[in-house]
Amino acid sequence: MSVKLPIPNAVSASLSETLRQRRQRLAERVDFPVLLWAGRAPARNFPANRFPFRASSHFLYFAGLPLENAVIHLEAGKLTLFMDEESADAALWHGEKPKRAEIADRIGANMALPLEELPARAKGAATLAIQSPIVYQQQCEILARPVVAASLSDGIDRQLAQAVVALRLVHDEAALMELRQAAAATVAAHKAGMATTSAVRSEAEVRASMERELLARDMTCAYSSIVTIHGEVLHNDVYSHSIQPGDLLLADVGAETASGWAADVTRTWPVSGKFSATQRDLYEVVLAAHDACIEQARPGVEYRDLHFLACRAIATGLVDLGILKGNPDSLVEQDAHALFFPHGVGHLLGLDVHDMEDLGDLAGYAKGRSRSDRFGLSFLRLDRPLKAGMLVTIEPGFYQVPAILNDPARRDRYRHAVNWERLAEFGDVRGIRIEDDISIAADGHAVLTQDLPADVDAIEQLISVS
Ligand code: GLY
Ligand code: MN
Repeated sequence: MSVKLPIPNAVSASLSETLRQRRQRLAERVDFPVLLWAGRAPARNFPANRFPFRASSHFLYFAGLPLENAVIHLEAGKLTLFMDEESADAALWHGEKPKRAEIADRIGANMALPLEELPARAKGAATLAIQSPIVYQQQCEILARPVVAASLSDGIDRQLAQAVVALRLVHDEAALMELRQAAAATVAAHKAGMATTSAVRSEAEVRASMERELLARDMTCAYSSIVTIHGEVLHNDVYSHSIQPGDLLLADVGAETASGWAADVTRTWPVSGKFSATQRDLYEVVLAAHDACIEQARPGVEYRDLHFLACRAIATGLVDLGILKGNPDSLVEQDAHALFFPHGVGHLLGLDVHDMEDLGDLAGYAKGRSRSDRFGLSFLRLDRPLKAGMLVTIEPGFYQVPAILNDPARRDRYRHAVNWERLAEFGDVRGIRIEDDISIAADGHAVLTQDLPADVDAIEQLISVS
């Protein structure tokens, strides 16, 4: 019996048609051949002890299946699959895999060849650099030229990257189906995390209860889970703290389906099951920013404007609470809000959690735009008008980051903007983030993660269900 490929048979009938359409759309944009490498799983201390394999997202988009050590050649809508048959040793340790011809059939390849045939057919092809150094070296050798990051190249690799961005920015129905599955699993994970909090004592146990929901669906994590009472560490990957009544727990956990599509969701909840008055006040400020941005999300709206909408909502809320002083618009112009909300309001989501950021800002920033070095804008990852088919996150937050708030230069610059004594009254809030996944539709948007409530009462209710 051969090991199953991670796409159920029911889906595979439409998979080859979806892939054919993606190849056709690429062929309408580039008139040169393209080679895309899947990559390889890194071994640990001996070849059969491997880290889990994750194929390159660009490969997955056009090949549909996570085929280790495979390369696809795309030209004028035609697909050639290059991969070797499995060795007897690999079959012994990792299980027998389908034959090359069978895989080629499932992905609708026109031809399937061993890897030794690849160099002869590589001439003049464009590619996208792979992050693994070993595979990257192969790319350079086989193409007989240096492969530079697409954002730095000005040749066919950059043209390819731009074409891929144009396709991957707008999700087709097959992608949306996967993204909805990732979202549904992620909602279940967050509900499980909330329901388990009162019965456990550590961040690690809450994380385990959340990731269990993903693993039980044969999915994995789209990124390293963040499950922490130190929400002020934006990508905290430490789970060793005990959790105490009085703490807020921030959980940023998202599923990845077997074929690589991601969700990205954050909720913040009180360990005790009840927000304190100060926690509730700040939570409501972040929630107002979150709701205002989602409400405005539709085609034609500039994502940067949503970011500023979130900044203004946060500045207004903090002025109302007496933490910031002054006019909210002018506080945002001075980046005073960024003392507490130092990142962008979200990013693209798709095959990667920060979709296509391996291409630098080619995907996130519209042609002719580039990142600002302003304190409040340098982490804005997306600056394009929204378009039907795009999937974006909306994830405003409030954080008390010691390195920002204790920085002497910032304290001096914002000495008149912040009421530091009032801020000290909110000491039981280190970090709050509320994040959902928003699919832009022709007539507005759909919140793929809408089954996970964000309002205070519903969150408290979910925590008490244990
Ligand atoms: N989920 C982590 C991030 O969006 O950066
Ligand atoms: Mn995110």
